[in-house]
Amino acid sequence: MNGGATQAATIGVVGDVHLFWDDKDVGFFNGGGYDLLLFVGDLAGYTQVRGRRVARSLRKLRVPAMCIPGNHDGLHAFQLGSEIFPRAHRFRNAFCQGQGSRCRSLDRALGGVELIAYSRRRLAPGGVPLNIVVGRPHSIGGRRLACTRYLAKQYGIDSMDASIARLKSLIDACDDAPILFLAHNGPSGLGDRADSIWGCDFRRKEEDWGDRDLEEALEYANGNGRRVLATVAGHMHRKTKSGKRRPAQVQKDGVLYVNAAEVPRHRKINGTKKRHHVRLTVTSGGATAEDLWV
Ligand SMILES: [Fe+2]
Repeated sequence: MNGGATQAATIGVVGDVHLFWDDKDVGFFNGGGYDLLLFVGDLAGYTQVRGRRVARSLRKLRVPAMCIPGNHDGLHAFQLGSEIFPRAHRFRNAFCQGQGSRCRSLDRALGGVELIAYSRRRLAPGGVPLNIVVGRPHSIGGRRLACTRYLAKQYGIDSMDASIARLKSLIDACDDAPILFLAHNGPSGLGDRADSIWGCDFRRKEEDWGDRDLEEALEYANGNGRRVLATVAGHMHRKTKSGKRRPAQVQKDGVLYVNAAEVPRHRKINGTKKRHHVRLTVTSGGATAEDLWV
C-alpha cells in the first residue's frame, strides 16, 4: 500500500499450509491490506487430493499470489518416503514417475495463483519495484537434491552445481530494483544447531539443513552489488522435534531471513481459532517482518 512519502509494499507470507487453510483465510486476505501474497509451499499433507482441495480454495484469492512447490506438493506419500528415508532411496527415481502430471494438476487447481520455481518476476507491489527470485522447488533440505529426475526433466537441473548456476543466472537477469527471494527451504549458513532457523532437528547429529544453492546465490547477489532485502521460506517447522522454538527471523549482512513455517497455522488461542501469517513490509531501503495471528 502507498502511504506517506515512502512507498511500502505489504506482503503476506504464508508458511507451510499442510492443509490448514479454508475460505475464511481467503476472506481475510481478500478483505484488503495486502499487495502480494507469497506461499512458501507444502500446501499438501500426504495426499495430493487434499492438497488440490487447498489449491481450489486458494484460487478464490483476489490478491496477486505465487506459491513455490514444497516437498509435499506433487509428491505422493511413497515418493516422499523414498526421498526422506535413506533405506528407500533406491526407489526414488521410480516414484518420481508422474510428478509432472501431479504438479500440472496442482497448477490447474490453483487457478490464478502462480505455481512457480526457478523464475524471476519483476513486480512493483504497492509501488515498490522488486525482483522476486524464486528458488528450487520441492526442496527437502540438506545436501541432496530431492526429486532429481523430475528437476532434470522439467528444469534441466541435475545437480546442486547446476541449481547454483541457474539461480545465479536468475540474479543476472534482475534489473536495478532490490531482490526478494522466495524459497521452500531457507539457505545454509545460518546455524548448525537443531533449533537454528534452518537447522536439522530430526537426526541425532545437529547440523545445518539449509539449501547450499540458495546460500551461494545470496552470496553471489551480495557480492555483485545487488541489494537483497529479504529471503522468505519455510519447510523447517518453527517448533522443533524436541519442543524448542527456532527464531522466526534473523538478520545477516543486511538481509532479513524469515522462516514462516508456523505449523499448524490454524490454532485455538484463548478458545478462539486464529490463523497465522507473516506480514512483510518492504520499502526500497529494507524489509521488516511481523508475525500475525488473526
Ligand atoms: Fe517441506
